[in-house]
Amino acid sequence: MKRTKIVDALVCTDFGKDINVKGWVRSHRSSKAVDFIALNDGSTIKNIQVVVDPTHFDEEMLKSITTGACINVVGTLVESQGAGQASEVQCRELEIYGLCPGDYPMQKKGQSFEYMRKYAHLRLRTNTFGAVFRIRHNMAIAIHKYFHDHGFYYFNTPLITASDAEGAGEMFQVTTLDLARTGREGAEVPYDRDFFGKKTSLTVSGQLEGELGATALGAIYTFGPTFRAENSNTPRHLAEFWMIEPEVAFMDKEELMDLEEDFIKYCVRWALDNCKDDLEFLNKMIDKSLVQTLESVVKEDFVRLTYSEGIQILEKAVRDGHKFEFPIKGWGMDLSSEHERFLVEEYFKRPVIMTDYPSEIKAFYMKKNADGKTMQGTDVLFPRIGEIIGGSVREESYDKLVGEIKTRGMEPSSYSWYLDTRKYGSCPHAGFGLGFERLILFVTGMQNIRDVIPFPRTPKSAEY
Ligand code: 4AD
Ligand code: MG
Repeated sequence: MKRTKIVDALVCTDFGKDINVKGWVRSHRSSKAVDFIALNDGSTIKNIQVVVDPTHFDEEMLKSITTGACINVVGTLVESQGAGQASEVQCRELEIYGLCPGDYPMQKKGQSFEYMRKYAHLRLRTNTFGAVFRIRHNMAIAIHKYFHDHGFYYFNTPLITASDAEGAGEMFQVTTLDLARTGREGAEVPYDRDFFGKKTSLTVSGQLEGELGATALGAIYTFGPTFRAENSNTPRHLAEFWMIEPEVAFMDKEELMDLEEDFIKYCVRWALDNCKDDLEFLNKMIDKSLVQTLESVVKEDFVRLTYSEGIQILEKAVRDGHKFEFPIKGWGMDLSSEHERFLVEEYFKRPVIMTDYPSEIKAFYMKKNADGKTMQGTDVLFPRIGEIIGGSVREESYDKLVGEIKTRGMEPSSYSWYLDTRKYGSCPHAGFGLGFERLILFVTGMQNIRDVIPFPRTPKSAEY
């Protein structure tokens, strides 16, 4: 008999027909007269109720079916008396695929997320992580659909690279050299004998190669893993995260902000439309205002604010008695997520697109304004998250870009292929990077970025 997924069985109204469902036991309640097994197969947050007449089955066998066990059920689909689902299964045949011993780490309800992180291989089977990863999948589909529908090409950029796209030096080295022999203090590293014949690393961003794509295909986006060796032990940083980086030829700052806003609203709307059951669950269990927050982000216009205006607001807040953990040092300072969240959550109560940052605190490729001090950056700041998107118009002048690279003590020859886009038929263009996990954090209401990626990589942690 063909198996029916529980998501389909729950809405099926072919009552009286035979049905086969398979899954993992969420709970098993028994009484003299009847046993109820709540079964889940990952296709939905909802369980199907399997009703078992204990007089038809071996008592010991029934008793052995505990939370976490995997079973195969054949029975009759009957109308459910319970609210929220159409059907349940009156069990006729029951086969145990795998028992689940009492030391199953996910057996108890209400375990802390910290505890569950130690069992990232098993936490996937809990309701919360099921909901989070179904939503994560849906967000990936939304992203591809948005860009495909808007004429962007999916463009794959290398993960192993010889250049530092952000110029911040936070890279993981990739090598086949025997470090025990070559890594001695002060010794020259023989990169010519290394796999690629030069020093290589895992990429921090696909943007520079993305610009090569955009200045040929017009509009591209990347969607892939990105690596940062920054020692940031925060609920918003991973050493390995996924980033979406659209890059568009002939796009100016206003159009870039429109794209950022339209794109992120589309993703959030997609979740509201396509992940109802999972969002309802998370709204109940994780964040009681989740759905409301998502709905308001979709509805409201984002505030567009220059960095200088932002600093003035923060300085005024300090004068009015607001206490920040990280001090407001005035124009030129880098904002921490605490400052970003103050603007978004307390001052404007809406997402903010912050623009025109001081050049010094941002990357080398951003286009400078005529004042020579600020540049055309367009970061999107979100409630609960802080920076969710980092973007900018790119410097298209060959001379200015080379000048900036040199001023920052970087080596122009390592970027010769990048500079060629400015040498041959240079064009104005712009783009941004969205941190995928930060989007998932926002959409799920989860608090820690380690809980929205199946197998998180953070300092001192690379399990699996
Ligand atoms: O602001 P970032 O560093 O910008 C870039 O990498 C540009 N090359 C993007 C572009 O213009 N194409 O990173 C972009 C976004 C951030 O806004 C944040 O959402 C996310 O990537 N991000 C991280 N997410 C998780 N863990 C980390 N360590 C992250 N670092 C950045
Ligand atoms: Mg940034």
